[in-house]
Amino acid sequence: MLSLVLQLALAPAVAGLANGIGRLPAMGWNSWNAYHCDITEAKFLDAADKIVSLGLKDVGYEYVNIDDCWSVKSGRDPTTHRIVPDPERFPDNGIQGTAEKVHALGLKIGIYSSAGTETCAGYPASIGYEEIDAATWAEWGIDYLKYDNCNVPANWTDTCNGCVPDSKLGDEIVNGTCIGPGNWCPVGYNYTASNTAERYRIMRDALANQNRPILYSICDWGQGGVQEWGNATGHSWRSTDDINTNWSKIVELLNANSFYLNHVNFWGRSDPDMLEVGNPGLSAAEARSHFALWAAMKSPLLIGTDLAAISDDNLAILKNKHLLAFNQDDVYGAPATPYKWGTNPDWTFNVSYPAEYWSGEYQGGTLALVFNPYSTSQARNITFSEIPGLHAKAHHVQGRGRGRKGYRATDIWTDKDLGCFMDYIAVDVEGHDTAGVVLREGCR
Ligand SMILES: *[C@@H]1O[C@H](CO)[C@@H](O)[C@H](O)[C@H]1NC(C)=O
Ligand SMILES: *[C@@H]1O[C@H](CO)[C@@H](O)[C@H](O)[C@H]1NC(C)=O
Ligand SMILES: *[C@@H]1O[C@H](CO)[C@@H](O)[C@H](O)[C@H]1NC(C)=O
Ligand SMILES: *[C@@H]1O[C@H](CO)[C@@H](O)[C@H](O)[C@H]1NC(C)=O
Ligand SMILES: *[C@@H]1O[C@H](CO)[C@@H](O)[C@H](O)[C@H]1NC(C)=O
Ligand SMILES: *[C@@H]1O[C@H](CO)[C@@H](O)[C@H](O)[C@H]1NC(C)=O
Ligand SMILES: *[C@@H]1O[C@H](CO)[C@@H](O)[C@H](O)[C@H]1NC(C)=O
Repeated sequence: MLSLVLQLALAPAVAGLANGIGRLPAMGWNSWNAYHCDITEAKFLDAADKIVSLGLKDVGYEYVNIDDCWSVKSGRDPTTHRIVPDPERFPDNGIQGTAEKVHALGLKIGIYSSAGTETCAGYPASIGYEEIDAATWAEWGIDYLKYDNCNVPANWTDTCNGCVPDSKLGDEIVNGTCIGPGNWCPVGYNYTASNTAERYRIMRDALANQNRPILYSICDWGQGGVQEWGNATGHSWRSTDDINTNWSKIVELLNANSFYLNHVNFWGRSDPDMLEVGNPGLSAAEARSHFALWAAMKSPLLIGTDLAAISDDNLAILKNKHLLAFNQDDVYGAPATPYKWGTNPDWTFNVSYPAEYWSGEYQGGTLALVFNPYSTSQARNITFSEIPGLHAKAHHVQGRGRGRKGYRATDIWTDKDLGCFMDYIAVDVEGHDTAGVVLREGCR
């Protein structure tokens, strides 16, 4: 008895879904942003083929994720209580048949459900059936679950939602603290004890009971204070409401997620939603900014476009070697963070003018980004003394009396060596674009 008590006491306080996967941000493709409910097996197999033939697999994209609308809508199998794959959309042995074909290409496959009675599009969902569903998915060969938050039974809801960064609610977060109007929980509220957290833990435990490691992507739109318990529950957790191709929405999500980055490291990431790169509505500059900042925040990178129609320019963005190296670094787990907001004072929550100056360390050096929220080109400086790590290094070098060394810069978009700079780099940033450099020591 005593030894049992000791064992419990020694168990880590925060276990998470420790199934050995998801140490780095997930990379792959998901059907929603491209097709919404208009899905068939053929579309997933086409996406999988393109991931291979376009070289996306070679740079790390591996998950082919089925979103909503994959099952028979009228209900579960009355005998087994399993969700039944739609035989018209998935005619060849259902999801299992699709999984086999995706696996044969060396890729992985994801599925979708909701922690409610029905999915967002009204298909059977998993609350009360977590064990059955997790076991079914494992049997089919599923590698990834996106778990949404629609149609929650009344007795499972919470009376307050935490700080959900949503411009419609007028939410504001300053240094992780909610200010302004909104459906906040009172100060000191224990989000980990909320019904929302519990709904997601039940599925975590069901997944943990399977023999197959399944990556767990929590999609509760930032509700229930998910930043407080997401890392102990899944591999990623949505921080906001849904993305779309409106530029203003992408900037809004960037602003919101920028306040949550201290929760991000190996095994767990705040997720500002899937990529829209390639979809109509974004300019080339906007696509660059969206991808650069999502990669820098160590968000999961899930492509959401028809890869048969993608332009060379957008494909190059999705394959950018500097940004992918930063996002997937296996030594540095922390994301890039803002070192200066720019237009507004530091830590200002503003859905149109978020943080503009970003930096982060990785094995390749220091990644520095300057985002331009304005529609016209702006002259900007990347000033070394403002960037935390660079400042320290410069002092160190000077302190040893060896003279100043400066930094060698590589443009992340052109991959050109820009030469050596002593104090700052002046850049012209196109409207809505993001300038980016990798800085390394080694100049004299
Ligand atoms: C809600 O009701 C269901 C069905 O009665 C029950 O299994 C579940 O535990 C309830 N949830 C909570 C949070 O009490
Ligand atoms: C936010 O946090 C930073 C770093 O901890 C601090 O320098 C700054 O003063 C804080 N701002 C506000 C408004 O609390
Ligand atoms: C919050 O709730 C969780 C889950 O019930 C519990 O383990 C934890 O001790 C609580 N924290 C505090 C500070 O009460
Ligand atoms: C873009 O925003 C407008 C206005 O909020 C909205 O009507 C429209 O549906 C949005 N577009 C997309 C693709 O969501
Ligand atoms: C998230 O949990 C993992 C263990 O699962 C831990 O290694 C990591 O440091 C945690 N992240 C943060 C930001 O605390
Ligand atoms: C956001 O920032 C801009 C630029 O400083 C400012 O004009 C605008 O009023 C701010 N918006 C809000 C809602 O504070
Ligand atoms: C960049 O810094 C240099 C040197 O301090 C300064 O002369 C120049 O005006 C700055 N440019 C901008 C756009 O701030």
